[in-house]
Amino acid sequence: MPLRGRFTPPGDKSVSHRLILLSLLAKGEMLVRGLSDCEDVASSLKCFRALGGKATEEQDGLRVTGLDRNFPPMPESGEIDLECENSGTTMRLLAGILAGAPGRYVLTGDAQLSRRPMERVAEPLRLMGAKVSTMAGKPPMVVEGGKVNSSEYALKDASAQVKGAVLLAGLSASDGGPTVVLERASTRAHTERLVDFFKGRVSVDGLRISIWPGTLVLKDTFLAPADPSSAAFFLTGAAIIPDSKVTAENILLSPGRIGFLRVLDRMGANVSITLTSDTPEPVGEATVEYAGPLKGAEIAPEEVPSLIDEVPVLALAATRAEGRTVFRKVDELRIKETDRLMSIRHQLGALGARIKIEGDDLVVEGPTSFIMPESLDSGSDHRLAMTLSLALLAAKRNVPILGSGSISVSYPGFGAQLEALCRG
Ligand code: S3P
Repeated sequence: MPLRGRFTPPGDKSVSHRLILLSLLAKGEMLVRGLSDCEDVASSLKCFRALGGKATEEQDGLRVTGLDRNFPPMPESGEIDLECENSGTTMRLLAGILAGAPGRYVLTGDAQLSRRPMERVAEPLRLMGAKVSTMAGKPPMVVEGGKVNSSEYALKDASAQVKGAVLLAGLSASDGGPTVVLERASTRAHTERLVDFFKGRVSVDGLRISIWPGTLVLKDTFLAPADPSSAAFFLTGAAIIPDSKVTAENILLSPGRIGFLRVLDRMGANVSITLTSDTPEPVGEATVEYAGPLKGAEIAPEEVPSLIDEVPVLALAATRAEGRTVFRKVDELRIKETDRLMSIRHQLGALGARIKIEGDDLVVEGPTSFIMPESLDSGSDHRLAMTLSLALLAAKRNVPILGSGSISVSYPGFGAQLEALCRG
């Protein structure tokens, strides 16, 4: 069944997290419109409130009052528990913010988050003078914040969350100096863009980002752009299902987020992009139209951060494409909500796809005529569950997808949107 129509996905998850969490270090009041309604962002909001932040629902959006670093006194227990649930972004960015806050904070997560690595963020924060401990590298992460100093840190992983945590800690450096982060490859730049937008001092020189301590100032209103990573499922669906044409409106079009559109274009889909605004980041619409069978493509290591969350659905596109698609150096996928390399191989493999993991590369040989197992298993990984829904649509079949409740982690309205685009 073709996918046809225009739609607006939920507010961008990465930007929504940052709007809420940055407000801990900001003064002023801001009405945020278009904030993501997903569970992950709700986790950030709960933590914001647990730290004394004020946010009230209004008809037009969420009114957020900046906490301006007025963190609450410690309760009798001597520590504040912050439940980050499934959200790695919440935990990692909060660790950076709390590194400069007096008190003891215990950051916990659900079973999936409790398996994810946290030393990558604990280590640079320790080098800045914060006391941070993990449980054998995993959550719970305990941050005993207070005084942090500026530092220069070369990221070991291409991770926007780690970059963000160090930059946010740098906003509280008590020696007044700049904190410098050197990236290995360019990752999504939302932290630095928003800090700049809220009147913080930050400078970007290629892969070198410097930030100076200071207090941010919120704007009166902020319209969160829609999430390209949510749009990606339907836009990629349109590239693989004959007669499809889908337009995602008002989405964030930052170069660090739309690598999947560049890849779909290289694979032969008809892709067009129109910019409608540029501050603080590019926003506009993207249309993908089916243009015949796709062909395989090579995805270079330096492109990977710009499509890191879209590898599952691009791998699905590759199973429908003629020839070989290679995703180079995608080992970061091993530490997502699930080991996504294995989940992609097993679940698309269960549909008959020819997929191999060669070292850190993911190799897909297409095209595949899908066979149907009795059920598919997303492993409660939201991006896998949505990818598998599209796979079933492309195969014109319907079998249960186990763990599809996880879709609300990023896109609660996914099922309804899928139906609407199928109706055309
Ligand atoms: C995110 C960064 C990416 C991405 C995640 C959101 C962010 O994670 O996969 O969904 O908002 O900074 P890493 O920084 O761990 O690559």
